[in-house]
Amino acid sequence: MHHPLTTTEEDAWAALLRAREGGPVPEGAMGSLFAPLFATPRADDGCIVIGRLAQTLDGRIACANGASQWIGGPGDILHTHRLRALCDVVMVGAGTVHHDDPRLTTREATGPNPVRVVLDPARRLAPTHRVFADGAAPTLLITATPGAATHGQAEVLRIGDGAIDLPALLRALAARGLRRIFVEGGGRTVSAFLAAGCLDRLHVTLAPVILGSGIPAFTLPEATHMDQGLRFRWAVHPIGDDLLLDIPLGRRRPGRCEGTA
Ligand SMILES: NC(=O)c1ccc[n+]([C@@H]2O[C@H](COP(=O)([O-])OP(=O)(O)OC[C@H]3O[C@@H](n4cnc5c(N)ncnc54)[C@H](OP(=O)(O)O)[C@@H]3O)[C@@H](O)[C@H]2O)c1
Repeated sequence: MHHPLTTTEEDAWAALLRAREGGPVPEGAMGSLFAPLFATPRADDGCIVIGRLAQTLDGRIACANGASQWIGGPGDILHTHRLRALCDVVMVGAGTVHHDDPRLTTREATGPNPVRVVLDPARRLAPTHRVFADGAAPTLLITATPGAATHGQAEVLRIGDGAIDLPALLRALAARGLRRIFVEGGGRTVSAFLAAGCLDRLHVTLAPVILGSGIPAFTLPEATHMDQGLRFRWAVHPIGDDLLLDIPLGRRRPGRCEGTA
């Protein structure tokens, strides 16, 4: 599967875009960071799911009022756009669309725009948000409430009753040929995937900032003993002033979350 080393970052990126279309995964630092996206899926749903968050040293992803631009530096933004470009889907929660009105396109990296997927269980978001209105890429609104089949330019899929059934969502995306799934945020959405045992990998950018208040990165059912935490090995990559923590999860989840999703 691996191919001889490429020399520059640009060559490596071009090779990764070819890997997206079925070519060999390049060797070297960038190749091995992104190689897990191209591994054979181990889960029955056939998807590779990678979550990511940029957090402060005290585990916050935004101020309490929702302001989060920017926690990480330019290297983190580029990394996020690269993940978008290499995946079939970029997915965010309704809170992120409400606060940031993101476009979810690959402006900082060359490469295709992924299908945009917004999770809005209660269907609270207005259809005027850019992701539903700008036509920049196909968009799906996933809800767990009955309603119309479209939302702005987005197609609506109801998956679940009251709460979104994440394993069923992954099966539905795979059935459409969408198998590389990038869960970009926010904290509640990435936490829900973690609690459901639906993450193959996590990329957490740790920024040298302390906020002391704000929206948390990970929120799971209450633990009463340290053994109930989810422990893992990570690989640490400096990007600018930040640290990128590359965490293989292989769909593991904290034991106390079993049966909760
Ligand atoms: N640092 C980072 O890496 C990063 C990445 C992405 C986003 N962010 C920031 O994270 C924050 C959002 O994260 P999050 O964990 O709160 O939410 P999220 O994971 O983006 O979305 C999850 C939930 O947001 C809720 N929600 C909150 N306000 C809403 C509104 N006005 N309309 C519709 N739904 C709303 C919905 O809950 P219900 O179930 O109640 O409908 C939805 O299910 C934003 O401030 C964003 O800027 C940071």
